Amino acid sequence: MERELALEFARVTEAAALASARWMGRGDKIAADDAATTAMRTVFDTLHIDGTVVIGEGEMDEAPMLYIGEKLGTGQAPEVDVAVDPLEGTNIVAKGMNGAIAVIAAGERGCLLHAPDMYMEKIAVGPKAAGKIDITAPVVDNLRITAEANKKSINDLTVVILDRPRHEEIIQACRSVGARIKLITDGDVSPAVAAALPGTGVDMVMGIGGAPEGVLAAAALKCLGGEMQAKLKPEDDEDIERCKKLGITDVNKVLLMDDLVKGGDVFFAATGITDGDMLRGVQYRGKGSATTHTVVMRAKTGTIRFIEAIHTFDKKPYLNQLFSQK
Ligand code: FBP
Repeated sequence: MERELALEFARVTEAAALASARWMGRGDKIAADDAATTAMRTVFDTLHIDGTVVIGEGEMDEAPMLYIGEKLGTGQAPEVDVAVDPLEGTNIVAKGMNGAIAVIAAGERGCLLHAPDMYMEKIAVGPKAAGKIDITAPVVDNLRITAEANKKSINDLTVVILDRPRHEEIIQACRSVGARIKLITDGDVSPAVAAALPGTGVDMVMGIGGAPEGVLAAAALKCLGGEMQAKLKPEDDEDIERCKKLGITDVNKVLLMDDLVKGGDVFFAATGITDGDMLRGVQYRGKGSATTHTVVMRAKTGTIRFIEAIHTFDKKPYLNQLFSQK
């Protein structure tokens, strides 16, 4: 894949963020998600790739677009597998809270785990603790290892956890040794990426969230030299069957980085929709213009770019058209 694709992928997440940020605080998560999905789809089709969605908005019969198996781009080489989450944090946008992003990962065919839409247990850390954590070990052991690797005392650690009753045990374990916790209402991709970026204040992410979100975060961690370990959490026989259909035969396997994202040629791009630890949200500047904040990275070269862009809608027909519908 050519390096120029990095900027193209940034354009894709920018468009999704610009469209969905219009819905901030308006209490309609479906409209916010639809806006992001339509914008993302529109820009994807301008890209010279032979893309296939491997993680998307759902199966063909349940998602009108960006469904698993859908073709993206002009159909020209290179062949690219794409994971998309046009709006990661639908409730966040609906309520106007912090931490929603538009996000994609893309890589050579076959490189991304075809994770079904189910739960996944995850632990994510930055480069210093990479290779040292163990998802099968007790929570407190992983806290100690990460603190030591990050050259901090355990009381200085910040662990991000989704605020769910299922995480009571993890929360208690963190509190028992004095680790700091940031409970979030939604959106566990952004903090997992933040754990591997300097200056974000996030040391690790632990707990159970969406499996597709896990693969997206793992793509970023591959670019950044961080680590995610994961385990799928099928809830019933139907979930196990869905795993098998996607080629996952051992649902109890501990998934390491190369199981989540194979090889070393993967891109990750995310644009802030609302403000977060890693990215600022969309700011509309009046007079048909807006600012976006995007991170785009590539595992092959390890380059991480933060892009602040000013968009002028009447010079971008596809954006103008999307916004005039509202
Ligand atoms: P949506 O953007 O689809 O609303 O999901 C956001 C999210 O919070 C993810 O970041 C997280 O992995 C998952 O949902 C957690 O699922 P649940 O809300 O069922 O605990």
